Amino acid sequence: MKKMLAILASPRSSGNAANMLDTAVQKAGESGFTIEYIDLYKKDITYCKGCMGCKKIGSCVINDDIKEIERLIKECDLVTVACPTYFANVSAPLKNMFDRLVGVAFDDNNSFIPKPKLSQKQKYLILITCSTPAPFDKLAGQSTGTVKAIREFFHVSGMKHAGTVIFSGTRNKSEVPLKITKQIHNIIRKAGKK
Ligand SMILES: Cc1cc2nc3c(=O)[nH]c(=O)nc-3n(C[C@H](O)[C@H](O)[C@H](O)COP(=O)(O)O)c2cc1C
Repeated sequence: MKKMLAILASPRSSGNAANMLDTAVQKAGESGFTIEYIDLYKKDITYCKGCMGCKKIGSCVINDDIKEIERLIKECDLVTVACPTYFANVSAPLKNMFDRLVGVAFDDNNSFIPKPKLSQKQKYLILITCSTPAPFDKLAGQSTGTVKAIREFFHVSGMKHAGTVIFSGTRNKSEVPLKITKQIHNIIRKAGKK
């Protein structure tokens, strides 16, 4: 059975990013995935120390909740990350999670090009929220800043992009529009087939 790792990177557990992720989780269940759900704001994950000890042992030297995520990210077929846009970037816990996973994501070699450690058979789906309405979320580099930061991590890890869905103009909205729900469903359905 395929496994999906769902990561909520918003502090609002009933907010728009959480609702998008719930949509993905429901569809993934229907598409034959087993689900592991991580609410990042509820995890005990301290800051990366920048010691690069992980490069020697392939795992972070700090023993906290990152260990659970290290295991789950290596095991999953699809990881779905739901994140709000904060200052045209990812939320702080998500950035910290990426930093703490550097030893799991890639190896250094003699060139400046990182050597991916995760599998090309693994895929990632990005779900983004931002209050800036379209097309200004893109023109002003808002949602695109968040997407770029997430893609950077998964790209150097070697995982394949399954899709990105952006819910822009979220101010005063609490329901995921049908158009967005359909986009999420389509990507999950395809990921479940391959
Ligand atoms: C600290 C903070 C910074 C934000 N920065 C941006 C931003 O740079 N661009 C933007 O369009 N929205 C920004 N927003 C708005 C959120 O991205 C938006 O409200 C989003 O829908 C929140 O997702 P949630 O419903 O999952 O909490 C910011 C919100 C907060 C709390």
